[in-house]
Amino acid sequence: MHITSGRQFLKLSMVFGVAAVGLLLGVGSTDAATIKGSKHDLGSGGASQQGATSATTEVCVFCHTPHSANTAATAPLWNKSLPGSTYTRYSSLNSTTIDGSNETVGSVSLACLSCHDGSQAMDVMINKPGSGGYNSSGAAYDGDDPMTNPAGKTPMLGTDISNDHPISIQYGGGGWVTGDADGAASAGTLADGSFKAGVKATINSTPVWWIDTAGGTANARDKTDIILYTRGSGAAIQPYVECASCHDPHNSSATGVSFMRISNASSAVCLACHDK
Ligand code: HEC
Ligand code: HEC
Ligand code: HEC
Ligand code: HEC
Repeated sequence: MHITSGRQFLKLSMVFGVAAVGLLLGVGSTDAATIKGSKHDLGSGGASQQGATSATTEVCVFCHTPHSANTAATAPLWNKSLPGSTYTRYSSLNSTTIDGSNETVGSVSLACLSCHDGSQAMDVMINKPGSGGYNSSGAAYDGDDPMTNPAGKTPMLGTDISNDHPISIQYGGGGWVTGDADGAASAGTLADGSFKAGVKATINSTPVWWIDTAGGTANARDKTDIILYTRGSGAAIQPYVECASCHDPHNSSATGVSFMRISNASSAVCLACHDK
């Protein structure tokens, strides 16, 4: 059962009396999976973390706008300008065992890095809350500063991301090339067998790929699956690992570090992709 409104709650209270209060509290705790009240809620209802402002109660506006969005960003209806930073990549370390080819840092990762590389204020917006306040190149909303690293924490990755797990890197150790028929687990052959095979589907004539995890429905793309993001065009479209492959910026329920697609207990995130 899912209680969605006060009226339903009232009706339930009348039927079940006090027991319904416990039920409501139970439903409230599943709400912990949402972004509201989390570190990604930069409005007044947030976690009072760096970047938070009391100037609005809105949550989504710090990243999305229903109108006039930045179409240069791959993230949907993006309300921020993208960073103009130059990044030092994992590939610059010249690991002898890496097989996958790099694309330039982009896709959804650049949307994350628009706050997490520390290069621009976190409240930069194209379309501020309320009527008016449009600025095509983005402007700070409440004068907040760029992200920094509090003691003992490293949310600000900086522009040297050579010490971070590779992103904008082709999945499968050099590609997912042959026999990738739609809709089946283990579709396709990976160039490097030390990666788990995933699932491919075609949506709006565009191929999409993901790695199924234990949660959700098998062979359907769920929020708790490891999502691969595409680069290239035509027959050359390939799946890539980006920040949001491992992270869901709306899901605060994971313990330890929030915004994981699945809990990393027993390294489940790592083992979703790496066959180790
Ligand atoms: C901190 C930045 C941030 C905030 C705040 C945020 N989002 Fe997102 N959202 C993203 C990014 C980045 C993506 C693309 C990532 C992906 O593919 O899942 C995204 C994707 C989405 C998507 C499409 C993919 C999906 O998961 O369904 C929807 C719908 C969405 N956001 C809705 C919302 C709503 C509604 C809110 C406010 C309650 C919100 N977002 C707040 C960053 C944010
Ligand atoms: C979305 C899939 C995915 C997930 C999840 C994932 N990885 Fe990776 N990982 C990759 C890909 C793709 C590469 C690039 C490897 C290549 O091309 O040879 C890589 C590279 C690496 C490398 C460098 C390999 C080298 O040869 O230099 C290490 C180490 C690594 N991952 C560890 C981890 C750990 C630890 C986790 C969990 C925290 C993790 N990975 C989660 C896909 C993933
Ligand atoms: C609007 C700015 C903004 C954007 C865009 C943004 N974040 Fe964040 N993120 C934050 C802030 C603020 C924090 C809290 C930093 C702190 O703890 O001091 C944070 C924290 C995190 C954390 C650590 C959570 C914890 O429990 O400590 C993760 C993981 C994270 N973000 C991932 C992402 C990913 C992945 C994306 C893109 C899909 C993204 N963020 C986009 C502002 C942003
Ligand atoms: C291959 C999977 C993977 C990818 C790709 C990835 N992350 Fe993470 N990230 C993790 C895991 C796992 C943790 C939790 C590590 C821990 O428990 O200390 C984490 C932790 C974080 C944290 C919290 C750091 C702290 O200690 O305060 C932030 C912020 C973050 N990631 C942002 C990003 C951003 C931004 C990107 C893209 C540039 C990204 N991540 C790409 C797996 C990934």
